[in-house]
Amino acid sequence: MEKKITLTGITTTGTPHLGNYVGAIRPAVISSRRANEKSFFFLADYHALIKNNDKNLIYTSTTEVAASWLALGLDTENAVFYRQSDIPEIAELAWILSCVTAKGLMNRSHAYKSAVQNNIEGNEDTDYGITMGLFSYPVLMAADILLFKASVVPVGRDQIQHVEMARDIAQRFNHIYGQIFPLPEVKIDQNVDTLVGLDGRKMSKSYNNTIPIFGSEKQLKKSINKIKTNLLEPGQPKDPDDSIVFQFWKAFAGQPQIDEMRSKFLNGISWGEAKKELFNLINTELAEPREKYNQLMAQPEKIESLLIEGALKARKISLPFIKEIRKAVGINTLQNTKF
Ligand code: TRP
Repeated sequence: MEKKITLTGITTTGTPHLGNYVGAIRPAVISSRRANEKSFFFLADYHALIKNNDKNLIYTSTTEVAASWLALGLDTENAVFYRQSDIPEIAELAWILSCVTAKGLMNRSHAYKSAVQNNIEGNEDTDYGITMGLFSYPVLMAADILLFKASVVPVGRDQIQHVEMARDIAQRFNHIYGQIFPLPEVKIDQNVDTLVGLDGRKMSKSYNNTIPIFGSEKQLKKSINKIKTNLLEPGQPKDPDDSIVFQFWKAFAGQPQIDEMRSKFLNGISWGEAKKELFNLINTELAEPREKYNQLMAQPEKIESLLIEGALKARKISLPFIKEIRKAVGINTLQNTKF
């Protein structure tokens, strides 16, 4: 049986938070350890450039994201972990794919459409602030996916359309040039959208309601204390299904612990006590990785050498494949020699 190929990218803007951990990193770490799966995880630094012109932020965030994934136990022996910009074939494929991608398809991209909508609402020119990078974002993402013949692409809901576009682009290419690309399937991780932020909305940098994964213990405690609760007193029964604290609990606890906490809620546990238990639960899971993270951040050359190893593994696949793709579109040496 052919191995399933799982691939996903992480845009390197910002410091990873618990929502990223529960939604993306934790499932990815588990999948990186499965021997019957081939998985690819990469730092999407070219995608980060679309959203951000701050070179220090791009650089720092790339380091932090890499250190986080490594500290949380990504198996870099079994999985391939690399930085997008280390694989020149991705940018090359993005251009080739651009040449078969309908502009009309890109016009329908949610990210682009919402930028246009914001301009209209702000009485700006519709193109104001919109770069070609933003407009062609789905093509670069299609190149990421198709270059490694990914069959499964785990993403959050906001990215479903991009994976569907990668399928469309692959089909168009195959129709013109023959069966080159297998079609990727999107996989929505049920957890991805479930971790709430401090205020009960989805945890997201744009809502300013995040908890960083690797703040200090003290910071973690402080953040947890900020989780919004109601005014019920100790001793008064509390509805677990209407509590942000309990939602956090569910994201980190096993079933017996969930049942136990549920009955504590019904028996009137105080918010202070519930938060203390939540802190202990999360902190226990993160204490060891936090130490590893701090060590890695102090030795970025270690991270770098793992990324270079990953890039070498990735290019063993991407280099022969891009040659095949070039040939398929008629870009070849003129002496009919193999290349
Ligand atoms: N665009 C994705 C995001 O912001 C990240 C990403 C880039 C990606 N390339 C990818 C995800 C390829 C899956 C496959 O979340």
